[in-house]
Amino acid sequence: MIFRSALLGLAVLLAAEKGSALSQRCSTQCPLCPEPVPCPVPRCPVPTCPTLPVPPPCPVPRCPPIPPIPPCPPPLVNVSCPEVSCPEIPCPSCPACPQPPPCPPCPTLPTAPPTRALPSGYREEPGLGIYKVYRIRTSWPAANETCSVDGGYLAVPNSEAEKDLFLGWLDSNNLRYGFHIGIVRSGFGRPFTTVLGESLTSAQIDMWKSGRVSAPIGNDCTYLSRSHAAIAAEQCSDTEPYVCELSRV
Ligand SMILES: *[C@@H]1O[C@H](CO)[C@@H](O)[C@H](O)[C@H]1NC(C)=O
Ligand SMILES: *[C@@H]1O[C@H](CO)[C@@H](O)[C@H](O)[C@H]1NC(C)=O
Repeated sequence: MIFRSALLGLAVLLAAEKGSALSQRCSTQCPLCPEPVPCPVPRCPVPTCPTLPVPPPCPVPRCPPIPPIPPCPPPLVNVSCPEVSCPEIPCPSCPACPQPPPCPPCPTLPTAPPTRALPSGYREEPGLGIYKVYRIRTSWPAANETCSVDGGYLAVPNSEAEKDLFLGWLDSNNLRYGFHIGIVRSGFGRPFTTVLGESLTSAQIDMWKSGRVSAPIGNDCTYLSRSHAAIAAEQCSDTEPYVCELSRV
């Protein structure tokens, strides 16, 4: 070993000298020499490398047993499945319900009379009648005519309730004397009747104030006197307000 190291050391030394000689010229120049003398080239020995030991062979690895590969699934095939139609099972149907016996026909109701619209200004007083108060003073014949045009007649108060109703209107309308009344006679000595042709007895009218007949010549028309709260005779040309009454249908 010592010998080998010495050899190596010598080789390194020689190699170093050889390197410096190759890179430069010797600087020892004599004045007589035209050229510098080239440096001597060293003779390097071929180094003998030590033989490296051969590595031991690698041990064969002991691998665990490889598990068996499961078989591959069958490749997917573009298979079109046939359509399976399910058989239709009919549902059991319910037994028919027993039908109720036919209803007896309803009795035909009498058709209600059409409620006619009241003419302008007319109002129904429940239990008494349908009336319109005319506050404008006119003669008895003109009042009779107006009521006729309205489709009615000059009102006749043939009950205490109706008379009180009319007297109330005289008060509420602040009418001083009274209303023309649908009771008239065709002349002195003739009987007074209603404009509907009824006798006063059948119409149950006590028209004479204080139970005394007071219908002189020329007083062939009548009015309901506010101050006397009774029916009295008047001249047909006298002007008074009046009440028209509609006949019930
Ligand atoms: C599968 O079938 C359908 C319809 O026939 C077709 O459009 C499709 O390209 C097919 N696929 C393959 C991978 O063959
Ligand atoms: C009252 O009017 C009716 C209808 O227009 C008419 O028939 C009747 O003669 C009149 N009565 C009087 C006394 O004018």
